[in-house]
Amino acid sequence: MSTLKAVRGTRDLLPPETELWNFVEETARRVFARYNFGEIRTPIFEDTQLFARGVGEETDIVSKEMYTWEDRARAQSEKAQSLTLRPENTAGVVRAYIEHKLGETGLLQKLYYIGPQFRRERPQKGRYRQFWQIGAEAIGPPSAGSESPLRDAEVLEMLATFLNELGITGWRLEINSVGSATDRPRYVAALREALAPMKHLMCEDNQRRAETNPLRVLDSKDANDQEIIEKLPKIADYLDDASKAHFAAVLAALDACGVKYEVNPRLVRGLDYYTRTTFEFTHGGLGAQNALLGGGRYDGLSEAIGGPKAPGIGFAMGEDRLILTLQSQASWGQQIADEAANTVAKGPHAYIAPMSLEVAPNALELAQKLRGEEFRIEVGEPGLKIRRHFEFAEKLHAKSIVFVGENEVFGKTYSMKPLGSRANIVWNFTDFSKFVSALRGTNRNLVSGP
Ligand code: HAM
Repeated sequence: MSTLKAVRGTRDLLPPETELWNFVEETARRVFARYNFGEIRTPIFEDTQLFARGVGEETDIVSKEMYTWEDRARAQSEKAQSLTLRPENTAGVVRAYIEHKLGETGLLQKLYYIGPQFRRERPQKGRYRQFWQIGAEAIGPPSAGSESPLRDAEVLEMLATFLNELGITGWRLEINSVGSATDRPRYVAALREALAPMKHLMCEDNQRRAETNPLRVLDSKDANDQEIIEKLPKIADYLDDASKAHFAAVLAALDACGVKYEVNPRLVRGLDYYTRTTFEFTHGGLGAQNALLGGGRYDGLSEAIGGPKAPGIGFAMGEDRLILTLQSQASWGQQIADEAANTVAKGPHAYIAPMSLEVAPNALELAQKLRGEEFRIEVGEPGLKIRRHFEFAEKLHAKSIVFVGENEVFGKTYSMKPLGSRANIVWNFTDFSKFVSALRGTNRNLVSGP
C-alpha cells in the first residue's frame, strides 16, 4: 500500500516553526487590540451563493478555484445545498454582520480574524491550496462614519505599524482608487471600447475577460499582453469628484502619519466587491508571489448579498507569506528562529525519571506540581534502567533529570541532577521552594524559563 501524504498544496506546520506562527498571531492580536478591533470566527464553509454573489462569478476565485460540493439533502423533497470551503473571509464577515444585525448598534464594527482559507491554485512558493490569512474589516452604517477616508487611512496605518512591530522591513504599499459604483460602469464601458479592436491579439483568458469583466484584464500577468494593457484608459480619469476627494483625503491622512505609498493606477485587485480605495503591500523577498497582503473598500458588498447599506474597508494578510518574509530576513529571522529553537528544541526544563511502575503516580504528582510552577516537564517511562533514562533526557535536551524512586518516595526527598554536571542534589519535601529555585538556576539560559 502506498503511504498517505498531505494533499497537494497543503502542508503540516511543525514545532519549532509553529512558535514563529504563534509569535506573528500574538503580535497581530496585540496591535489590533490597540485600534479597538475584536476577534470574529466565522465557519470554514458557507453557502456557495455567498461567494458567487459577494466575491463575483467572473473572478478567478469563484470561476475556477473554489472547493465546492453538494451537501446531502435532509429530505427527499429537498434540494441539496451547495457548500464551499471559504476562499476568503470578507464575505463571511459581512454575512455575519447582516445575520446578527450588527448595524443596529449604530456603531462601526471593527473585526479581525485569523484562519485557513482554501483556493485551488497551482501550488508554488508562497502559494498553497490551504493557506492562512490574518485579516480585519471595519464595517458599519454610514452614520457611524464607515465611509470616511479616515477609516481607510487608519487601517493602512495599523498595517504599517503591525509590519514594523513584527520586524518586517522593506515592504512597499501600492494604493489606488477604483471609484464608486457609478464611476465603475463608465470606466468599464471605456475599457470595453478600447479593448474591442485589440482583444484578438491577446491571450485566450484576456479575450474572455474583455467580454465578461474587462477590469480583470488590468491585473493579468500575461507578459505578451502588457504592452496593450499599458495603453488602456486609466481609472483615475473616470473618477467623479466625490471619489477623487475621498482618495485625496486618504492620501493626505497617510502623509500626516508618515506612511509611505506609491499610487498604482492599475491596481484593481482580483475580487469584484471593491469600490474606491484598493491597496497591496508587497515584499521583494517573496519572489513571484510578492503580495504580503491586499485589501480595500467595499461599500456595496452588504447590499449585494441582501443586507442593509454598510460600507466597509478591510484587508487580509497571507500569514504563510509573512512567515516566509521573516525567515528570509537573515538577522531578524535568525533571532526568532533561535528563540523558537530555545523554547522547543532545547527541550524541557526537567526530565522526571520514575524508577519503577509503583512510583509512577508519585512521578506524575511531582510533574503536576512543577508544571504548576510553569516548568516544562517530560515524564519518562517508569522502570527503565537508569542509563536509558539518561539517554532519553539527553536526546530531549532536558536541562536536568529528577529521580523518583522508592528512596525518594519513602525518604520524602527530591533528588535532582543538572545534566552535564556531577552534582546530585537532594532536598527534603519541606524544602520544595529550594528545589524550585535550583531548577530555575539550571534553566537560566532558557528564553521561556520561569
Ligand atoms: P486577496 O488578495 O485575495 O484578498 O488575498 C489576500 C492575501 O492572502 C494575499 O495578498 C496573499 O498574501 C494571501 N493569499 C491569497 N491566496 C493565497 C494562496 N493561495 N496561498 C498563500 N497566500 C495567499 C482577500 O482575500 C480579501 N478578502 C482581502 C480583503 C479583506 N479585502 C477587504 N477586506
